[in-house]
Amino acid sequence: MKQYYILVVLLCFLSCSKNEQNEKKAVSENEEKYEHIINKLLSKMTLEEKIGQTNLRGTSSRAKTLSEELKQQVRAGKVGALLNVMKIEFVDELQKIAVEESPNKIPLIFARDVIHGFKTMFPIPLGIAASWDEDIARTSSRIAAIESSSVGIRWTFAPMLDIARDSRWGRIAESPGEDPYLASVLGKAYVEGFQGDSLNDPTSIAACAKHYIGYGAAIGGRDYNTTIISKPLMHNVYLPPFESALNAEVATVMTAFNEINGVPATGNKFLLKDVLRGKLKFDGFVVSDWESTIEMIAHGYAKNEKHVAELAANAGLDMEMTSKAYENNLKALIEEGKVSEDQLNEFVKNILRIKLRLGLFEMPYRDTKNEATFYKKSHLEKAKNAAVKSTVMLKNTGVLPLAKTSKVALIGPMVDAPLDQMGTWTFDGEKEHTLTPLDAFKTANINYNFIPGLTHSRATSKKEFKKAVAIATASDVIVCVVGEEAILSGEAHSRASIDLPGAQEDLIKELAKTDKPIVLVIMAGRPITITNIIDDVDSVLMTWHPGTMGGEALQEILFGLSEPQGRLPVSWPKTAGQLPYYYNHKNTGRPANKDDFVAIYDIPVGAWQSSLGNDSHYLDAGYTPHFPFGYGLGYTNFRYDKVEVSKDTITFNEDIIIKATITNTGIRAGKEVVQLYVQDVVGSITRPVRELKGFQHINFEPGETKEVRFKLSSKSLEFTNHKSVKAAEEGDFNIWVGPHSASGLKHSFYLKN
Ligand code: GLC
Repeated sequence: MKQYYILVVLLCFLSCSKNEQNEKKAVSENEEKYEHIINKLLSKMTLEEKIGQTNLRGTSSRAKTLSEELKQQVRAGKVGALLNVMKIEFVDELQKIAVEESPNKIPLIFARDVIHGFKTMFPIPLGIAASWDEDIARTSSRIAAIESSSVGIRWTFAPMLDIARDSRWGRIAESPGEDPYLASVLGKAYVEGFQGDSLNDPTSIAACAKHYIGYGAAIGGRDYNTTIISKPLMHNVYLPPFESALNAEVATVMTAFNEINGVPATGNKFLLKDVLRGKLKFDGFVVSDWESTIEMIAHGYAKNEKHVAELAANAGLDMEMTSKAYENNLKALIEEGKVSEDQLNEFVKNILRIKLRLGLFEMPYRDTKNEATFYKKSHLEKAKNAAVKSTVMLKNTGVLPLAKTSKVALIGPMVDAPLDQMGTWTFDGEKEHTLTPLDAFKTANINYNFIPGLTHSRATSKKEFKKAVAIATASDVIVCVVGEEAILSGEAHSRASIDLPGAQEDLIKELAKTDKPIVLVIMAGRPITITNIIDDVDSVLMTWHPGTMGGEALQEILFGLSEPQGRLPVSWPKTAGQLPYYYNHKNTGRPANKDDFVAIYDIPVGAWQSSLGNDSHYLDAGYTPHFPFGYGLGYTNFRYDKVEVSKDTITFNEDIIIKATITNTGIRAGKEVVQLYVQDVVGSITRPVRELKGFQHINFEPGETKEVRFKLSSKSLEFTNHKSVKAAEEGDFNIWVGPHSASGLKHSFYLKN
């Protein structure tokens, strides 16, 4: 009998690998066919038509009519792609013109920012990052692709993969957080979700890894600002998420607005040709960001529009978003020999290759069978699940979960803010579909009284405070939902202070005078500094901007139907003055420590100049964040009993097994995100004090003990040094297994050459 099973397993293995071989063979045959079609088309295209393919025309999503000029441009083959064409009839009409009337019948690609949902809005990407769950990322982008492709969209400008270490930056809301490993895991999943199993599936949309590169390193967290990034930092922090997206075969890449070390990303030949094409073998196409080509004039990098086109083309930018430097100048530049036609041909090949992979030549029109997918029950359910898994509990004195019979004072400007709850990048989300906390309380038959207390997050009028205090006094518990309106988050919305805006802190202080327990719920696009009020509240839930189903997710968590499962994807500062702050920082020559540190108001009057700890800290904010990267509480507690390593010494190409024994010491079942951190103690360049190298979501029954195992390869210890050589180096390594980046059971091993 045993031989029979072995035979069956063997046959299955052979047929699977045969299927894989067949699949690979089919893909390569397709690719060969595509290259043949591309070369054939190229041979027939005029210079104007080739330049036309590099033109991404922007239109207003609120346009009521289609301009004749645009239709004529499409008819002449002078447009390659279109952005923000939102009326289905316009999409169909323009595509019909392109495939039936243009010289070579090349289909258009229709693009839209579908960042964290199209109609069903998921939590903002920083919230999805807080789930630490690649399935959530993949599901959110898969559903966004299904909903958006039904109206003809086949290209989105996501995932945004900018590592963000400064919560003042408005676009941290859109980012995967501060860690390259977590961002890489999520980036791959987003691409898989958007692009599906096959890019030519009608519900698949081309993804776009953006913003290449280093956009999140803007000085002062000021959007669009200067970045200074060393080569090791580029290779060890900012590039890995893009490499992960490229390995997932992301179809397109978008250049960033910022300059890097003096050279704007959009005209950066080293980054676009040497790194992206040469080193990373990218074979899709690169699009600029919105007018980021002509912004090279403002940068002081280009003299005029023609110079812009010359710089961008010679740097290897395939397609220009909304500005017309290419349209107006490429022909002359080629005739003058300043840009080669071969270079233009490469642009056209890259663009046509993605159009072929999307299946647009065979099926240029949207799949009408894929209608009415908006707000499907299954989509809403998954959005709610994502909001639950993204919610991070930062504090809980035991007030949560609430008893179902609790009489709740539901107070705050974000209790019933259906538009703001969706967060930034929700052009197509409809607030009418948002389930707010108020909606959820109503349908769940909870005993509550509601008053906003403030009309919106920036409001300063306290005229409703007295009524709010009265409602709070008459209740068992206060659920205070505060935060940021969506407009305070996202592109061009950096803030110097990241406190709660308006009079929200004053409202919390007034409510605290009632001595009623307070559950603080924060809906925002970034960590919010709550140092001034943390002692006035009993529990803190960070929901980020949780999307369409945020209210229902919150209600489930408040009453214990679900457990808050999020972990911080960014360090949470005590004050904006600490920023930029990130856990994977260097140790410096004078690392701060608790023995030396004297807080500002503990310093004796007349203290001797050198009497304080001479190390790296703030007198008035210390040297740690308010809450560390990876932190998050649940409704039970875990004890990390021990950690072991399979070997004390490993050689290169060997793996090491790390085992941790963990116990759920609580009376509720719960989930722990077990995190593995590694420190390369001495390197040819200084190395971070620790780096995330793995994490696992582990479910425990009450009282249950489990052994959690990680396999660490010596390859994962590699880094890029100052000679741009990527390698692991012999020496001592520390590891921690724990619940977040500031704790864990420690062990060590030696990597031997
Ligand atoms: C914006 C953003 C970019 C977006 C593009 C198209 O300025 O920087 O992320 O995809 O323009 O809307």
